[in-house]
Amino acid sequence: MPIETTATAVAELPADAELLAVPYGADLAPAVELGLHVPVSGLLAHYEAKGEAGELVEVPVAREGGVGRVLLYGVGDGSPRAMRKAAALLTRKAKGRQTLTVVPPEGDVTAFVEAALLAAYTFRIGSPGKPAVRALTFVGADEEAVRRAQAVARAVALARDLANTPASVKNPAWLAERAAEQDVPVRVWDEEQLQAEGFGGILAVGKGSASPPRLIQLSYDPPEPAERHVVLVGKGITFDSGGLSLKPTENMKTQKTDMAGGAVVIAVISALASLGARVRVTGLVAAAENMPSGTAQRPSDVIKHYGGRTVEVLNTDAEGRLVLADALAYADAELDPDAVVDIATLTGAITVALGRGYGAVYASDDDLAGELVEAGRDSDDKLWRMPLIDDYAPALKSSIADLSNVETGSTYGAGSITAALFLREFAGGRPWVHLDIAGVGRSTVDEGVLTKGATGFGVRLLLEWLTR
Ligand code: BES
Ligand code: MN
Ligand code: ZN
Repeated sequence: MPIETTATAVAELPADAELLAVPYGADLAPAVELGLHVPVSGLLAHYEAKGEAGELVEVPVAREGGVGRVLLYGVGDGSPRAMRKAAALLTRKAKGRQTLTVVPPEGDVTAFVEAALLAAYTFRIGSPGKPAVRALTFVGADEEAVRRAQAVARAVALARDLANTPASVKNPAWLAERAAEQDVPVRVWDEEQLQAEGFGGILAVGKGSASPPRLIQLSYDPPEPAERHVVLVGKGITFDSGGLSLKPTENMKTQKTDMAGGAVVIAVISALASLGARVRVTGLVAAAENMPSGTAQRPSDVIKHYGGRTVEVLNTDAEGRLVLADALAYADAELDPDAVVDIATLTGAITVALGRGYGAVYASDDDLAGELVEAGRDSDDKLWRMPLIDDYAPALKSSIADLSNVETGSTYGAGSITAALFLREFAGGRPWVHLDIAGVGRSTVDEGVLTKGATGFGVRLLLEWLTR
């Protein structure tokens, strides 16, 4: 269910706005025009309002044919963070209503509008819960800022929709169809083509499923020739049961979102043109369903990845790295990227390390790591850099293959780091970044810009990084 809300900027305050939000700062707003009987400053003094972001004073007002409400809201220090908090709160107030008219705060309103739209996101199959906010109108806002914010929010909503879709609907072929609906060239490898070209990791993970795997490539070419070619690689496991190394129900029931990284790649590429990105970007989504069956790969199987490297699969639940390894090796061999960024719900261990508020960034290149951390700070998809500890590399030694996909013993631990070290083996020494979003890809709460379920984490981050 896509974000239904539309955002527009208008010049004048509509006389009949049912829900009208005004920042504390707009003290100048004539009380009469808002339909108030007391000046804004008087009201705020009466309620002892401090002006913090997240503060809201609701005042019922007479409107043509009924009652409306004026929402006086605080914006704190006016930072993007404060703006997001204030805006999300407003839309949450408006959920269950048709329209919301907002007088935005002073300054750059991009973060404000974006947060207002994201907080309006809903996903439901069947009868609607609270009706969605149908329209958001910003009075006197910069139209271009509203348009950009809307493009970003729409991309986040697409990523959320894809990840929230149940796996009974969403298999690798379905994901490829969704990619093909975007307005960019798309190439899809089916099972036979994957076989012919040696994508042994994607095939091995997908072979237990009745729905065969796919590799999906999306291409964005900017209007002017680009100086930089970035490849984005997304983990596209449409359901992760663990395979024969089966997960317990509690851990399995969230795993329809195990293609969140792939969803981010599709959504980011779909928005690059409307945001005027000047880099060339190729997206790769390694899509498979990880299922146990008579045709599934077994713990102890040895597989051969794209490019010929062999891996002993000792745990079929460490499947993300197997599909990503093929895509990374392909990017290195065929696409000549200046930078490769993979994004994946890769390990439960990263949730233990960083929790649900920060995604992990691993990088072979300090500049690239810095760029991404900064883009994370600015976009609100926050990242914390994690170390690629070389001393732990022996954890992935195999006695019969080039590598093993998990540590067999417990000498090293550090599940997210060893997973990153595994991926690094396939990046071919290119400037490479790995984002482990297992902790942040799903939200357990309905709060701020987040809705319970898929978060679309990485869309705002990568769009910020690719368009700055
Ligand atoms: N998709 C999971 C990681 C995950 C866990 C994502 C929880 C979101 C929430 C991944 O494929 C996985 O199963 N990882 C294993 C790796 C282990 C077998 C080395 C894990 O984290 O337990
Ligand atoms: Mn798994
Ligand atoms: Zn997985």
